Amino acid sequence: MKCLFVASTNVKVEIISEVEPDLIVFNANELVTMNSKIGAPRIGKNMSELEIINNGAVAVKDDRIIFVGTTEELISKFEFGKIATKINAASKLVTPGFVDPHTHIIFSGSRENELSMKLDGKSYLDILNAGGGILKTVRDTREASIEKLVENGKAILDKMMSYGTTTLEAKSGYGLSTESEIKQLKTIQILNLEHPLDIIPTFLGAHSTPPEFKDRTDDYVELIISEMIPRIANENLAEFCDVFCEKGIFSIEQARKILNVASRYGLKPQIHIDEIFDTNGALFASEIKAYQTGHLLKSNDEGLKAMAKEEVIATLLPGTPFCLMLDEYAPARKMIDYGVPVALATDLNPNCWTESMQMIIGLACYMMRLTPSEALTAATINGACALQRQDKIGSLEVGKKADLIVFDVPNHQFLPYHFGVNLVSKVIKNGKIVIDNNPSS
Ligand code: NIG
Ligand code: FE
Repeated sequence: MKCLFVASTNVKVEIISEVEPDLIVFNANELVTMNSKIGAPRIGKNMSELEIINNGAVAVKDDRIIFVGTTEELISKFEFGKIATKINAASKLVTPGFVDPHTHIIFSGSRENELSMKLDGKSYLDILNAGGGILKTVRDTREASIEKLVENGKAILDKMMSYGTTTLEAKSGYGLSTESEIKQLKTIQILNLEHPLDIIPTFLGAHSTPPEFKDRTDDYVELIISEMIPRIANENLAEFCDVFCEKGIFSIEQARKILNVASRYGLKPQIHIDEIFDTNGALFASEIKAYQTGHLLKSNDEGLKAMAKEEVIATLLPGTPFCLMLDEYAPARKMIDYGVPVALATDLNPNCWTESMQMIIGLACYMMRLTPSEALTAATINGACALQRQDKIGSLEVGKKADLIVFDVPNHQFLPYHFGVNLVSKVIKNGKIVIDNNPSS
């Protein structure tokens, strides 16, 4: 049969003849396609438009989606008997694979002891200033061999995949010297080759001032711009550059300097802002048209409105205030009302260690009052937009990568509702079943 391959943001239409699927998913009670059409993040009321097909079906050839529609349509188009892999998703939910656009998965060691410090009333900055927090992980990560970092990274990626993540971003930032930042980014490169998940690398040298530059943050910024960025860009080790912009960490002016140089070297700017204090980070992020921003608990209205105007994505990380036991979360409802595009991510790091985007969807609904539809949009197509991958992933559309999740629940409202357990039945990455918790279906 003839089949049209159409990429959502790309009007190019390629006709491939005689394409028969090698894998199909059919009978899905709810097939959430998240059809993106415009190739831009969903905002406002559009975040609730999931483009659901009941009794839905998807057909896959190699690593691509070649058909999306109802099961009836699928049966009339293809010869059922000839298809090698048939997944019966009766009574099940099928969604695009989760995109986790903000993580710090490359590290060694752990910080479970910090929980009792938090219970004693110590804040994130108290722990950091006492040599714990990021600086403890920097010590452990500097000591670790690249083989050890790869081994740790694989264990994390395996868990992420088992909970439905199919693409993620990963940052450096626990090296804070040229060589050890490069070691982290090379770890990501190896993981990309050796693990099924796709990882998009971000350079975060400006995560903290390392001990050897104590009280000389400007000198460390100089090292970042004169040595780290040029080497990392020349060796093609990162796609994005990030800065932890916060009172007492890196100022707006230091962030501006770093991200300006990064942009000149072709690294796209993103930024951690307004997590602990309002430093006018949201306004700054919209001025420089950051590709995405993280945290935003304290962002002011003027900044949020500017972000809406410039379509700067707010990647909300509710796992972090949860693990810091804060009463305050990012003002997600207000952001959606203002038209700020909202994505969700785990922020996986030794302070907030979860691989589960299902957990994050739960926190988004219960703690930030997102609806289940908004949360699912934020965890899929809007996450893809945060990583500039909306033409390839984030929705189930003909021509896109065959990255999808079959959940053992009847509809998307179950994702936050039945919380704290893994609801995944199967995960398909690049057209291959990589997780199968129900081999008989
Ligand atoms: O996004 N806030 C800055 N960086 C990370 C935490 C890193 C750490 O605590 O190790 C974050 O939450
Ligand atoms: Fe982060």
